[in-house]
Amino acid sequence: MKRVLISFALCFAVIASGFSQNAAAPKLGKDPVKNIVSAMTLEEKAALVVGTGMNMFAGPPPSDPSKPPTGQPGAPPPNQQQGPVVGQTKSLVSGAAGTSYAITRLGITPMVLTDGPAGVRIDPTRPNDNNTYYCTAFPVGTLLASTWDVDLVNKVGQAMGNEILEYGNDILLGPGMNIQRNPLCGRNFEYYSEDPYITGKIAASMVSGIESKGVGTSIKHFAANNAETNRNSLNTIVSERALREIYLEGFRIAVQESNPWTVMSSYNLINGTYASQSPELLTNILRKDWGFKGFVMTDWFGGKDAVAQMIAGNDMLMPGTPAQVKAIVTAVNEKKLDIALLDRNVERILNIMLLSPRFKGYKYSNKPDLKGNAQVTRQAATEGMVLLKNENAALPFGSDVKNIATFGNTSYDIIIGGTGSGFVNKAYSVSLTEGLKNDGLSLNEDLFNLYSGYLNLTRGGRPKLTGFMAIMGSRPIEELYLNQDIIKGMAVKCDAALITIGRNSGEGSDRTNTKGDFQLTDYEQQLIKMVSTEFKAKSKKTIVILNVAGVVETASWKDLPDAILLAWQGGQEAGNSIADVLTGKVNPSGKLAVTFPVKYEDVPSAKSFPGKELEPSKAPAAGGMGFGRSVPAEVTYEDGIYVGYRYYETFKVKPSYEFGYGLSFTSFDYSNLKISSTKFSGSLNVTVEIKNSGKVAGKEVVELYLSAPAVKLDKPSIELKGFAKTKLLQPGETQTLSFVIDSRKLSSFDTATSSWIAEAGKYDVKIGASSENIKLTGSFTVAKDITVKKETVSLTPKVKIAELKPSK
Ligand code: BGC
Repeated sequence: MKRVLISFALCFAVIASGFSQNAAAPKLGKDPVKNIVSAMTLEEKAALVVGTGMNMFAGPPPSDPSKPPTGQPGAPPPNQQQGPVVGQTKSLVSGAAGTSYAITRLGITPMVLTDGPAGVRIDPTRPNDNNTYYCTAFPVGTLLASTWDVDLVNKVGQAMGNEILEYGNDILLGPGMNIQRNPLCGRNFEYYSEDPYITGKIAASMVSGIESKGVGTSIKHFAANNAETNRNSLNTIVSERALREIYLEGFRIAVQESNPWTVMSSYNLINGTYASQSPELLTNILRKDWGFKGFVMTDWFGGKDAVAQMIAGNDMLMPGTPAQVKAIVTAVNEKKLDIALLDRNVERILNIMLLSPRFKGYKYSNKPDLKGNAQVTRQAATEGMVLLKNENAALPFGSDVKNIATFGNTSYDIIIGGTGSGFVNKAYSVSLTEGLKNDGLSLNEDLFNLYSGYLNLTRGGRPKLTGFMAIMGSRPIEELYLNQDIIKGMAVKCDAALITIGRNSGEGSDRTNTKGDFQLTDYEQQLIKMVSTEFKAKSKKTIVILNVAGVVETASWKDLPDAILLAWQGGQEAGNSIADVLTGKVNPSGKLAVTFPVKYEDVPSAKSFPGKELEPSKAPAAGGMGFGRSVPAEVTYEDGIYVGYRYYETFKVKPSYEFGYGLSFTSFDYSNLKISSTKFSGSLNVTVEIKNSGKVAGKEVVELYLSAPAVKLDKPSIELKGFAKTKLLQPGETQTLSFVIDSRKLSSFDTATSSWIAEAGKYDVKIGASSENIKLTGSFTVAKDITVKKETVSLTPKVKIAELKPSK
């Protein structure tokens, strides 16, 4: 037996050296992974499918500390260890979220799994080590989606991949790609959009960018995890159609177009079953219907039944507890878990481990290209900012604007990203005031000193947050109160005013429809009013900068300032990026990937979000160990497929700023729409010409919407089915953009037949500068109903859902 095991270890050594043909090495079997699985003990298999624990939640120490550590010959079997093997994570990459189990005798190396979507989250310093391990804080997901630029997002992915690799990690726990069903979800900043098509496309390019560096990703949180309140116990009740068309579709696109190494299942239940325990989600849909080849891991401490998770095809349980190892071993011994299923999961993990840099013996430098990556984030942030208003060409600042009055706490204390696992330990962040100075503008010193003094004083009186508390963020500091006289004085002395309105949010709780969160506070309203009035009286401009993680109310105050720049949370270079746009160094080209409604009550899910808490006796038992509330709860997605613009457009509810909207410093002409045929047979090509008809160079995002015939199934009035961004067009320059329409894009999910069907009839192609601003329209017909794809019947709700439907 011993000899067999040594030879498997050698096999792996050979694989590690790139399958080199070493004459002395034993012949690799046809299937080395299967061979190694057959050499593993039951305890080792169970340990491999369970992570090695987490520092923060470390249990009691191993029963016998004198024994060699896990993975070494002579170590006690994993199910006899009482504490998670925290040493493994800590000693590999400090601050990583988790580590898979190593079995040295078989050549099985650990994989280091590290957050998160906006950059790599590891500890920036280590005890007794003078080196630093800072990572680049990139723009939040919502900003990246607002670039509508898959190449740019791929470039950001490559930069992140470089940091994952060079700091010794194997898999990034991202991108986050849940649908922004409701503007108040606390983690929306990590996610891309209310629309599954742009979500899937942006996620796929992020995954491809990261994985091009030879490291993995984990697209998360699969699926229908659209609120943070009670996230470990929330049962999402949703129709199969809404699931397939809205909540799963982005994941499908990412899986099929970018082949991510792993998927992270979500905390919530879907129609009564934990996502991590659902064979219908993780096997039927993810693998059978979509062809996913990697492995699935749970979200941290997600679900509650390790054996059900194994059966469902949730291959790895993170961060892992000894109790889970024990439960799996016991279930196999008691014939409650088929060993073949455990082997299947082990194989999936090993297949990915073979790709990992640690297995390949990559010598990481701990020196990623932080300088180069800072340039990537600075540029990316400028491309995702959305110019919401620009009356009388208030922006960019002309040569007459030399001295600026900067109002609002977050002009000084910029918010560069959200809190929780999406937080990044960056070396620095550039505030807006610093960015303006870097771009050669001067600020009013009196106002600067007033704000700086106030913020220093207030901050100074608070305890400094470190470690876990730091990533959870601190309460915002109340706005500095300025009276009308100060503002009047500024309007005399300064050439223009900037007011920054800041909002932050993060993991573990949702936002609220209150003043100070979704709504502006009375004082913020007053400040905008006073500043706009006083500056207008002196024929000077007021610009509002929204330094926010997600949607806020804009309708009540948007008429006051001359310009509004939605700067989102732009990563560590945010101040420079904003200044680059304000000065016209970069012409803004971002557009909204999420609707800004007039008021919260207009949101189609306003009534049901974030769900209702249940009598414990009526509810499924809460599992998991996440922070925040965890009371049994349920939410019914009565908005069905009418999420975001699908609702506002179909039900004619006018938003404040519609999906796809965004201005530029130049203008564009749309012409020459060509559709390759008026009759659909398999696929169509669409081309359109875009000309820069203005005076400065710029890029334009062009959106393709389809209106499908509603015969048997109701349909949203428009759906996004393509988008493209021009290159930087010089004034007068024209570019032809092309789009492909395949049958999948025509189809809707028919629950009765569990299939995607394209109904016969007339389809309108609408080329828009936004979902409302349609510039060109054409059409084609489908002669007969097409069954595009049949899917496995899965996740049927147990109750009838009274879903929103347009009247015929
Ligand atoms: C979050 C995940 C994250 C994990 C590891 C969980 O609380 O939901 O998104 O990747 O922690 O930090």
